Amino acid sequence: MQLSFYIKTFGCQMNERDSGIISQSLSQHNYVETNNIDFADLIILNTCSIRAKAEQKVMSLLGYLRKNKKRNPELKICVAGCVAQQAGASIIERMPHVNLVVGTQHIYDIPRLLLKSNSRNRVATALSDSYVIPRLIPDDKSNYQSEEQDEGISFRKFVTIMQGCNNYCTYCVVPYTRGREVSRKVIDILDEVKVLVHSGVKEITLLGQNVNSYGLTNTVSDNSSPYSFADLLKEVSKVKGLERLRFTTSNPKDLSENLMKRFLDLDNLCPQFHLPVQSGSDRVLKLMNRKYTAEKYLDLVNSLRHYCPEIALTTDIIVGFPGETDDDFSKTMGLLETVQFDGSFSFKYSDRPGTASAKFENKIPEEIKSERLAIFQNRQNEISLKRNSNYIGCNVKVMVEAQDGESFKCRATTNHVVHVMSNNVLIPGETIEVLIYHAGHHSLKGKAIGE
Ligand code: SAH
Ligand code: SF4
Ligand code: F3S
Repeated sequence: MQLSFYIKTFGCQMNERDSGIISQSLSQHNYVETNNIDFADLIILNTCSIRAKAEQKVMSLLGYLRKNKKRNPELKICVAGCVAQQAGASIIERMPHVNLVVGTQHIYDIPRLLLKSNSRNRVATALSDSYVIPRLIPDDKSNYQSEEQDEGISFRKFVTIMQGCNNYCTYCVVPYTRGREVSRKVIDILDEVKVLVHSGVKEITLLGQNVNSYGLTNTVSDNSSPYSFADLLKEVSKVKGLERLRFTTSNPKDLSENLMKRFLDLDNLCPQFHLPVQSGSDRVLKLMNRKYTAEKYLDLVNSLRHYCPEIALTTDIIVGFPGETDDDFSKTMGLLETVQFDGSFSFKYSDRPGTASAKFENKIPEEIKSERLAIFQNRQNEISLKRNSNYIGCNVKVMVEAQDGESFKCRATTNHVVHVMSNNVLIPGETIEVLIYHAGHHSLKGKAIGE
């Protein structure tokens, strides 16, 4: 008899990609996916612990699921991902209704671990040592390729090029939840991209916590000459039929001139760059262990805009890092004014267990963090609107994603979402040219040309 599973994904694209792998491996083991959590035989929460709020969301859903377990004692509940990696066996101890806790490097084992777990035997994977020995995608990863990602949009896919992170930014849990940095073999990445493109994928996003250090450390290279990320991009971009190539995320400290030059010579590389700065204050950047200064960051922005004038730049910001003064914060605002990001993701600093900054003094009160976040976000919204308005009157090529009420949700190469009115039915995955006639804070509106 087939069993049904429901999977809920929290957090970043790495987790989305991992959930795809989990779904696929379960589908190969007599499970069928359902989108109704209340009727599933197996519920998997693929969790995120980047900020306290992310973890709280997981915990409150787990609390809610007690009811489901009462109703159906045969139900199996599995906690996977970053919270599982960090909280480990303590989840099993605290939550009797959880059957299985699986760290980030054991997701491939879920079908086997499920067989081992029942109401008497509840399993947590070897969490304490697993994160220092990162595991790569298994060699038979070609089996793990055709799952739906990104809300079921089948022509856009993520390909993981590296796992883990070695940077130990003082606020961040990722080095603890994802282990040391390991790059995948060039040949494996290329094979995966080729299979995907062959099966109709048009857009690939290469994923890693710090893609710029691909090949710099622990590279699993398939030949004697090491590949840098710039080299890898060139190889991937040559895959026949690949229309759009993106990547994320980049740490400014490893961003090379060679990589920036790729925007000159790779036609399918999209003019978009996510370059998290975190703070505009050198003092705070140092406390964060980011290993660059605001001036170095501005130099990188200038170079990127030199090599690719149409590039859309986005960033991540943390406000209220321990010890952040009004003056430090005004430097972040100053950097925002200078760079004029197209968009940004901004967060209130959150203490995470095991990180260096959790032990720092001078924690900033919640009200001040909220105040600074609001100031930053309001100004960013104004800037986004102003920058988006520059597209009004321009012809832009967009890829159709899905019908969205009266219009179609499409995406420009710059990653802007464009809502398109069209008299014709637009086919997801097709590229059309549109005239932009309206700009909002977070998206544009366009009209199909030639209708
Ligand atoms: N590898 C990426 C970041 C991944 S985490 C990089 O280095 O750029 C995504 C974002 O979450 C970070 O850029 C940071 O802005 C935010 N973040 C991470 N830890 C945080 C914490 N403890 N509190 C608040 N925001 C945090
Ligand atoms: Fe976290 Fe820093 Fe690594 Fe990014 S580079 S994942 S912020 S430790
Ligand atoms: Fe969250 Fe883990 Fe990603 S902590 S942001 S899901 S790497």
